[in-house]
Amino acid sequence: MTRKIFIKTYGCQMNAYDSARMADVMAPHGYAVADSADDADMVVLNTCHIREKAAEKVYSELGRLRVMKRERASEGRQMIIAVAGCVAQAEGEEMQRRSDAVDIVVGPQVYHRLPELVAKLGHGRRVLDTDFPTVDKFDSMPQTTRVDGPTAFLTVQEGCDKFCTFCVVPYTRGSEYSRSVVQIENEARHLVDLGVREISLLGQNVNAFHGVGPDGEVWGLGRLIRYLARIPGLYRLRYTTSHPRDMDDDLIAAHADEEKLMPQLHLPVQSGSDMVLDAMNRGHTGDDYRRLIERIRAARPDIMFSSDFIVGFPGETDADFEATMGLVREIGFAQSFSFKYSSRPGTPAAAARKQIAEDVKAARLQRLQELLNEQEAHYLRASVGLEVDILLEKPGRFEGQMIGRSPYLQPVHVVAPGYAIGDVARVRITTVMSHSLGADLVSSFAPAAVAI
Ligand code: 5AD
Ligand code: SF4
Repeated sequence: MTRKIFIKTYGCQMNAYDSARMADVMAPHGYAVADSADDADMVVLNTCHIREKAAEKVYSELGRLRVMKRERASEGRQMIIAVAGCVAQAEGEEMQRRSDAVDIVVGPQVYHRLPELVAKLGHGRRVLDTDFPTVDKFDSMPQTTRVDGPTAFLTVQEGCDKFCTFCVVPYTRGSEYSRSVVQIENEARHLVDLGVREISLLGQNVNAFHGVGPDGEVWGLGRLIRYLARIPGLYRLRYTTSHPRDMDDDLIAAHADEEKLMPQLHLPVQSGSDMVLDAMNRGHTGDDYRRLIERIRAARPDIMFSSDFIVGFPGETDADFEATMGLVREIGFAQSFSFKYSSRPGTPAAAARKQIAEDVKAARLQRLQELLNEQEAHYLRASVGLEVDILLEKPGRFEGQMIGRSPYLQPVHVVAPGYAIGDVARVRITTVMSHSLGADLVSSFAPAAVAI
């Protein structure tokens, strides 16, 4: 009998990857993916714990699902509710106490055991598994059978040993772990066979990657990128998220000499104040970051950067905040994500005395976001007139239009008759929209000619 599973993903790309893998794990057990909870036999909430609001959303979703589940039960039908991801890891027991609707709690390191956990349910029994097992979960996972267009994520590294004082990740995802190069290569080749043309290598600290290579040596991310770039049919590589401390010379050099490595880098700095960076335990100063940006720009002059920022970290003064604004103005980011500091239980910063008032955080965030939005608009405007290759990812809003991504990760709309999704088109950027660009085809390029 075919059943349906609906997986709702919160948070980062790592969770999106994990959700797809959970679908892969459940498929051989007769579960097909559903688009909504409405007629699903099983619902998985793949949760995020990074900021307060993320966890709150999960609780309100659980409230809705609980009502649905009751209605189903009155019709004699079952609905299994599982909570996965980082909230499950951090407060799974409490979740089961707070909501009687939660049948399964499964942590991010053990979701390959989901079918066993489902089998254990019954007669009001509920299960919780938040182990950090020593066996490699990636070994027990079936190959993916579904891809969603020509771009895909591939987890190469998980966990974090950096212990930034605001962050729950080291507690929910555990310590740093890198997959082997052979395992990554096999998955990459398989994705390319399924039609994937661009792979984003994922890790909480992806540039801390140190996987065992086919030669038995430990490889860094630069070497991995060069190796994967040789896969025929794979046009583009990216990686995210990086820590400034782990940008080694070889990885920077890969930006200069590996054509398939795209000129766009998400390199979170969090703050421009040395006092705050120190209190965050980031392990670098504002100037270290500036120098690093210079070195990467020297390797790849057209590279565009994006970053994450936290405002209102405990003890952040007006002067500290101005230092962040100053650093942003100096460097220039094509895209950024900025957040109010959110106190996370169990992290060192949560216990700090000088917590910042909500209204101060809100005012700082607004000012920072205005500046970041201006910078994003600036980079979009600066692209007008450029000729770039875009990888066509999906149909556009009207007939004949398609949406692709520039090498700099900007969405580009183009009318491209004769081109298919997964082709690379050479275009000239003509117009700027709020977060994307419009372009015309450069007609002298046939799709196949650019695609290699
Ligand atoms: N409060 C606010 N933002 C946070 N981030 C991580 N932890 C917190 C927190 N406690 C942000 C950081 C990180 C991004 C993924 O989320 O900027 O880079
Ligand atoms: Fe969290 Fe810092 Fe690790 Fe990133 S590097 S996951 S912010 S502890």
